[in-house]
Order: sequence, then C-alpha cells, then structure tokens
Amino acid sequence: MLIEPAPAKLNLALHVRRRRDDGYHELETLFAFVRDGDVVRLDPDGQGFAVEGPFGAVLAGEGDNLVTRARDAFGAAFGVATPGQITLDKRLPVASGLGGGSADAAATLRLLARRAGVAIEDQRMFAVADALGSDVPACLYGRTAVGTGRGEQLEWIDGAPGVPVLLVNPGVAVSTGPVFAAWDRVDRGPIPAEGDLIMRAKAGRNDLYPPALTVAPEIAEAVAWLECQPGADLCRMSGSGATCFATFADGASGAAAAERLHHEHPDWWCLETVLS
Ligand code: C5P
Repeated sequence: MLIEPAPAKLNLALHVRRRRDDGYHELETLFAFVRDGDVVRLDPDGQGFAVEGPFGAVLAGEGDNLVTRARDAFGAAFGVATPGQITLDKRLPVASGLGGGSADAAATLRLLARRAGVAIEDQRMFAVADALGSDVPACLYGRTAVGTGRGEQLEWIDGAPGVPVLLVNPGVAVSTGPVFAAWDRVDRGPIPAEGDLIMRAKAGRNDLYPPALTVAPEIAEAVAWLECQPGADLCRMSGSGATCFATFADGASGAAAAERLHHEHPDWWCLETVLS
C-alpha cells in the first residue's frame, strides 16, 4: 500500500490582474500549504477507484473527478497501465478554495511517479499537472511560492512553517469559474515585494473576495468571525472561497478559537492546522 498526503492549499494573497483572451485570468498569488488535507492511497491488489471520508459522499456521485483524470493522464504520458486500486480519503470540503481537487490530482501524480520511479522534477510531470488545472502544478510540489500566469508559473519563496492556522468554511460550495467571471476587471496592482511571507500577504488582498460575496454572502460572516478572535493575525478568504483562514500568534489562541467555533457555529466546517 502506498500512501500520499494531499495537503490543503491556501492563497495567502490573490491578485487578479487581467482577463485573458482564452477566458483565464492572469493572476499573482502567494501559495502556501498546511499540514493536513486529503489522503490518496494505492492498493496494488485491488482495481478501480474508491472514495471515502467525511466528504466522500459528495464526490461519490460524480463520474468524473480529478483523481481518475490524473491517473489516466499519468498513464498516457508515461505509457504505464493503471496499477491497482486508488482510494481517495476526502477530508476537505469540496469546491471550497483549498485546492482539494487539485491537491488530490497532484497527490495521485506523486503516488504514481513514486511507483514508476519517475522524479517529481521531470518536466513531463509539470506538463501533466498543468493540463489538469491551474493549481495542480503548485500542489504537485507543495512548496510556498509566488504563482503567476494562470497560477502555474511558480517561484519558490521562504515559507512560514509552523504558523498556526484555523480554516473555516460556512458550509457553502462555490464554483471557481463564476467567481472569476464576476471580477470587476479592475487591476489593483501587484503583491508588494517587501517583507516576509505573512507581511507580504497582509499588504496584499484577495481580489476574488468581492465577487465571491455576490455568489455566497455568508463568506463575510466567516471572515468577520475570524477577525474577532483573540490572537488572529491574517484573516482572509482562500482562492475563490468559501473557505476562510486566520493565522494565529500562537497555537493556544488558535485552539481556543476552534473551541469557540464549535459552540458558536457548530454547523461550520473547521480545521485547526499549521503552515508547512
Ligand atoms: O484551471 P482550472 O480548471 O482549475 O480553473 C477552473 C476555472 O477557474 C476556469 O475554467 C476559469 O473559469 C477559472 N480560472 C480563471 N483564471 C485562472 C484560474 C482559473 O479564470 N487563473
């Protein structure tokens, strides 16, 4: 049995700069990853694809998903047959701004590459990842980075490993396409280059926040709730939403906020974790 973690991705800042002729948007984003997320397993004795976990039922009904697409794309690119059964343990909410589907696809590619003896750095891995989705290359390497282009052009930067993070989702699924489409096409400028990761993120924005609110107004409630928590530092929506995050000065204040959330919003999803 091979096991590969598929950690959640955060956009600590996300600046949308320009709508392109191909319908995608030119962006500038600070990608960071947290310790926890989904898990992908490969059992050489089985066959096919299975999904389990707290959010498994959401995906189970869908014929097409990024794990089987990644498996098939890897097979086509490297000329290897599908080996055994792939199981996705779906712990992250679906369509939530955490790159869950992209992380799952990337973990599947890493798993199959390990088994086939292909290096992650192999340029064909990037090409396969890039074709699967804008966030898949970032998730393939799982390193803190500035992403430009569609998000696939990556420049590694120093991370802030160990910083406590609380992820909160008010229970709404948001599709990325309509949120980008609702962007007002005003370029508000780049992410400031000065300072460390968190300083740069704080000096930046998430330009998808206003358009996401038009689709899911309850996201504002989640951000407002995080901003009220003692010790909360950077509070923001990730990706196109609806998951929001706060970094915390220390683990105890993050844990206390998680505890309060369970009482005040028992129906919201939350994950207490750290940046990796
Ligand atoms: O690349 P991916 O398939 O993950 O993107 C999903 C949708 O998000 C795209 O169809 C597009 O509408 C939007 N998108 C965008 N600009 C980006 C990334 C995604 O407009 N840079």
